[in-house]
Amino acid sequence: MSISNNFDQSLPHLNNILVIGNGGRENALAWALKGCNGIEKVWVTPGNGGTENHKGCKRLYLEDQNEKTLIESCFLHSIDLIVIGPEAPLAAGLADKLRKAGLVVFGPGANGAQLEASKSWAKDLMKEAKIPTANYWTATTEKEALSILQHVKCPLVVKADGLASGKGVTVPDSIEATAEAIKETFQGKFGKAGAHVVLEEKLQGPEVSVFALCDGKKFILLPPAQDHKRLLEDDKGPNTGGMGAYAPAPLLSKEDLKKVVKSVLEPTLSTLNKRGINYRGVIYAGLMMTSLGPQVIEFNCRFGDPECQTLMPLMGPELARILQACALGCLEKAPKLTISNQCSACVVSAAKGYPHNPRKDDLISLEITSGDLLQIFQAGTYCDEKGMLFTSGGRVLSVVAQGNNFDDAFTAVYKGLSKVHFDGMIFRKDIGHQVRQS
Ligand code: AMP
Ligand code: GLY
Repeated sequence: MSISNNFDQSLPHLNNILVIGNGGRENALAWALKGCNGIEKVWVTPGNGGTENHKGCKRLYLEDQNEKTLIESCFLHSIDLIVIGPEAPLAAGLADKLRKAGLVVFGPGANGAQLEASKSWAKDLMKEAKIPTANYWTATTEKEALSILQHVKCPLVVKADGLASGKGVTVPDSIEATAEAIKETFQGKFGKAGAHVVLEEKLQGPEVSVFALCDGKKFILLPPAQDHKRLLEDDKGPNTGGMGAYAPAPLLSKEDLKKVVKSVLEPTLSTLNKRGINYRGVIYAGLMMTSLGPQVIEFNCRFGDPECQTLMPLMGPELARILQACALGCLEKAPKLTISNQCSACVVSAAKGYPHNPRKDDLISLEITSGDLLQIFQAGTYCDEKGMLFTSGGRVLSVVAQGNNFDDAFTAVYKGLSKVHFDGMIFRKDIGHQVRQS
C-alpha cells in the first residue's frame, strides 16, 4: 500500500479534466484540480451558478443527458481525465460506459459502487472480510423484518437497502419505533430503495469519515474529517446531507488510523479484488468510534459532501496526477501527495425549509470572494440571464477557511458567512464545537 516518492514521468499528459456533478463537492474538486500542476482547464457538467467563479473552471453544457453526447463532448474537448462526483451515476455504471469508450475515469464501476448502492451487499462484504461493523440481518418482506425484531427484542437501526439520497436510515429508540420504521420502509417511504432492508445493531459513539484514493490494488489516505449531519445546533433536528465539517479530525489518532487501514481499508480492497472488482475511485468509510474501537457504519463510493470542500484546500498540486494514476491503476507512478498541516473548517448555508422542503429562487448577495485561505464553494445556486445569483434549493453554498488552529479557521469562516446574504438563509453556529476553544 505504501507509495514511493519517485514520480515516474511515464503517466500520460494531463491538461483537461471533466468533473461530473452539480454540488459543492464538485465545485471544490474543480477548484482544487485547476490549481494542480499543468492543468489548463477543468470542465464541470452540469455544474452550478458558482462553477465559473473559479478561474479556469468552465461549465460544459450538453444538449441532452445521454451518454453518447457526453462521450462525444469529452473527445471534442480533449478531456484527459473524468472525475465522477455523485453516487447515482456511479451506481448506474457511468464509469464503465466512459471507460469502454476509451476515456480515463476516476470513480468505481457499477460493481464497486455497490459498496454504497446496496447496504446488504456492503454488509456481506464486511462480514466476509471480517471488518469491524455492527451485527445485522437482512429482510425482503415486512413480515420477515418484524419477526427478526421480535426475536432480537431490542431497538434496531433500519436501513433501506438501496440509494435514498442519504435519507434511508432510521435510528429508533424503542422496539415500537423500530417496527414503525420497518413498516414505513416497506410501504415505500424511500421508494424502490426500501424494497428490502438491513436491520442493524445500534452502535454508540462519535462519527468520523476516512477517505482512501484507490487504484484498484493500492490506496493513499486523506486526513480524517468530521461531518455534522443534523440540521440544528447541539446535533438536534433532522438528518441532512451535512451542515459543516472540519479536518483533520483529531478524534482518530495516528494509531487508530493505522488500525483502520489494517482492519478496514486493506481487507475491503482485497475482498473487492477477490470478487473480481477493480475499484478505481474513493472509498469513503463512515466510522463510529465505539468502546470496542472504530467500526464501519457505512461505505460510500465517492467523496463526502461537505467533507470534500473541507479537504480540498489541504491538498497539494499533485492531486490531479494522483487521481489520474488511480484511474489508470498505477498509483506507484504518481508523485507523493503533499497535504497541508493546517486546520480546515467548513460551514454550509442552506435554504429556508431545508432538508424537507427547501425554498428556491432567493436572490444571493455575496460580498466576499475566494482568496488564499478562504474559499466559497457554491452548490444549490444558478445565475439568471443578467448574471444575478439565486438559490436553487437545498444546500446553497459553503464557506471554507484554513488556519493554524481550528479557532482561527472557524473565526474566518463565520466572518466570511456574515458577508453572504439571502432570504431565509440557515446555518449552524456550532460547527466544529468538538475542536474549538472559543
Ligand atoms: P448511513 O446512511 O448508513 O450513514 O446512516 C446515517 C446515520 O445513521 C449515520 O451517520 C449514523 O448517525 C446513523 N447510524 C447508521 N448506522 C448506525 C448504527 N449501526 N448504530 C447507530 N447509528 C447508526
Ligand atoms: N456528508 C455525508 C455524505 O456525503 O454522505
